[in-house]
Amino acid sequence: MNQARNAFLHPFAKPTKDKFIKLVRGQGALVWDDKGNELVDGMASLWYCAVGHGRKEIADAVAKQITTLEAYSTFDPFTSEPVEQLAAKLVSLCPIPDARVFFCGSGSEAVDSAMKLARLAHVQAGHPERTLIISRMRGYHGTNYGGTSAQGLPLNKIGYGPLVPDVEQVASDDLEAMSILMTQRGNTVAAVLAEPLQGAGGVYPPSADYLKGLRKLCDQHGAFLIFDEVITGFARLGTWFGANFYDVNPDLLCFAKAVTSGYQPLGGVFVGNAVRRPLEADADFFLRHGYTYSGHASACIAALVNLEIIEREGLRDRAVHIGKRIGDALKALAHDGVIDHARGDGAVWAAGLHASQNNVKIRDRMLELGAITRAINLDTNTFCPPLVITDAQLDKLLDAFAQAASGK
Ligand SMILES: Cc1ncc(COP(=O)(O)O)c(C=O)c1O
Repeated sequence: MNQARNAFLHPFAKPTKDKFIKLVRGQGALVWDDKGNELVDGMASLWYCAVGHGRKEIADAVAKQITTLEAYSTFDPFTSEPVEQLAAKLVSLCPIPDARVFFCGSGSEAVDSAMKLARLAHVQAGHPERTLIISRMRGYHGTNYGGTSAQGLPLNKIGYGPLVPDVEQVASDDLEAMSILMTQRGNTVAAVLAEPLQGAGGVYPPSADYLKGLRKLCDQHGAFLIFDEVITGFARLGTWFGANFYDVNPDLLCFAKAVTSGYQPLGGVFVGNAVRRPLEADADFFLRHGYTYSGHASACIAALVNLEIIEREGLRDRAVHIGKRIGDALKALAHDGVIDHARGDGAVWAAGLHASQNNVKIRDRMLELGAITRAINLDTNTFCPPLVITDAQLDKLLDAFAQAASGK
């Protein structure tokens, strides 16, 4: 056991593995490893780098903030200009009318915050019995205890002892199952938590009218609807949010990732009127939830510049173009029998493989060919490139996949 190991214990990896690809530089949709190999980033790192790598403009703005005041707590009584500005900007983009925004440091913290705020708002409204949070199989909501409890990916829940009580999953696109559980649990349901498009579970868009059905069930049962938009937020679907794309408004909306494109870690939750009202009803009520880095000034500056780039460079439109090219290419491969099927929306897609194919081998072959995909479950490779990827780079990515999936 005292065998020497790297000091770094990698996330989502075997603790015994010691060989990793060391990436040293990035520009746009390209990254380079320490051996000089160039790779097309087909995954925007981990679904987050919307504006592409190597943006000096963001680095300069963050450096300026760090040398002015890197950060300061925003717990009562303090605030800062960057966090106020970012909150105003985000609220202007948010599909939920009259929302406010709560900040944290990651998607996992956003999910835990939304789960806590949903239960808390019911308590403040005089309904402490409303504690049940219902999520969906195949859902991914991060790896804190709240998100681990709410995940619909069973392997990720093993070994961590008792999880958060009263968090249950139902089958993914099954409104009937959701309706039955909500009816059984009547007025003890606090919230339904759903990704509009399930991402890390394998890229599954919702079936037609599923999300509208969720909204209706939540309204009927007095439960809040929470959208986890950690992947779908900020132009990935060609709209600011999945709520716009699928035309369904939640009461709480979690975001992270592309809010800064990863230049600084940042997450947050939009809090709509239905949740705000009870939280604001008692002027003496004190919100006992927050993180050291809630509203971190340098992270907020990174987000402001990142959002400006998304707008200035028309990356929502670009997402539509990119998504069409990936979707068409994968559908053509499915038509030719190279893969089983394609699924996706906007600029996030998956190749559903035949049982005879191996998604890890395809990923590794693609790395040799100079392109990055992700291998998910046993039967899926995913695509979610930076929204600045060029057509030539897209061709290289898709050609590498076609070749690898054909076993060549
Ligand atoms: C939908 C969703 N929610 C939550 C998370 C967790 O975010 P983080 O890894 O930043 O904690 C992720 C991460 O992929 C995600 O895709």
